[in-house]
Amino acid sequence: MSTPDLSLPLATLLREATLAAHDLVAKGEGASALLSGRLDRDEYIKYLMMLWHIYDTLEQALDRHANHPALYPTHNPTLLARAPALSADISYFLQVPESSWKSHPVHLQFLASTPVPLINYVTRIREVADLEDPTPLLAHSYVRYLGDLSGGQTVRRILGKAYDLDDEVGLGLAFYAFKELKTTKLANQGEMKRIKEWFREGMNVAGDIGVEVKSSVLEETRVAFELNTVLFTLVRLKDEKPVDETEEEELESKEAPAVVEPTPLHQRTFPISQVVAVIAAVCLTHFILVTGGFTGDKGYQKLIALEKWVATLWKSTPRPE
Ligand code: HEM
Repeated sequence: MSTPDLSLPLATLLREATLAAHDLVAKGEGASALLSGRLDRDEYIKYLMMLWHIYDTLEQALDRHANHPALYPTHNPTLLARAPALSADISYFLQVPESSWKSHPVHLQFLASTPVPLINYVTRIREVADLEDPTPLLAHSYVRYLGDLSGGQTVRRILGKAYDLDDEVGLGLAFYAFKELKTTKLANQGEMKRIKEWFREGMNVAGDIGVEVKSSVLEETRVAFELNTVLFTLVRLKDEKPVDETEEEELESKEAPAVVEPTPLHQRTFPISQVVAVIAAVCLTHFILVTGGFTGDKGYQKLIALEKWVATLWKSTPRPE
């Protein structure tokens, strides 16, 4: 990794220094699953829930530090806030009023086994917000908001088709929709670009405070990308197994066949056809013995004589060399 050039404007510095980290997450399996448009609706709802918890924490932290010199230039909840949009999308998918999705069984179940990468992400934002100098919060808003304004727009088009959502109406797609900078109209592609430019200018104002702002935001941006990369490992197509599991199974099938331990007899079971065959053989033998007069003392003598006759016959039979 080359030494970052801290004389660059903050927006340029972050973009150049995190190109590889961006590619790692944007070309990873999680992003591919999302972009394939084949992500199960349930999985997508869980993904939205994870995002809601992240944005809710982040946006509360940004509001709390709204007047901070490094944070106020990009603080604009009317323009950027994503938690309310996510809330609208989740309630649309769950078909419940916005006021009640948090107590929906799907969300309660989600909370009961909250994914560790989500806990780590939210904890990190809280820790940064509680720092004496919360400047690195700028890194978290940069990674999320510029991401949503960029690649998020591709995701929007794909998901609209995949889940049969009307792009014009926007129900279920609120997360990807932004308002124009100066009006309340929905932003088109050109306007999205202007919002990104506005955000970058705000970052540069923060960076101009001093080199220590640039380096602390850069450092936290790397952490934020890492948190997103790990979070995305949770996004998977249903028929896809985690890589480790698939490898293990392949390995097992290539190994020598496992030695089958004999089952203790009292635990063994027999097919019904075998049981019927044994009963039939016993009945036939009993029938031959009785009808041939081989029962009682006399019968026993007859049986011995028969055995001797069979033995003589066996000895006199010619055998192949
Ligand atoms: C889902 C797959 C993704 C695709 C296809 C994608 C695509 C893109 C594209 C094309 C840009 C450049 C936009 C421009 O120059 O204006 C961009 C920028 C960006 N993306 Fe992504 N992205 C994806 C995922 C992500 C993720 C998961 C994150 C992090 C959470 C992220 C964060 C960013 C950021 C911060 C930028 C702005 C870079 C800058 O100009 O400083 N992206 N993305």
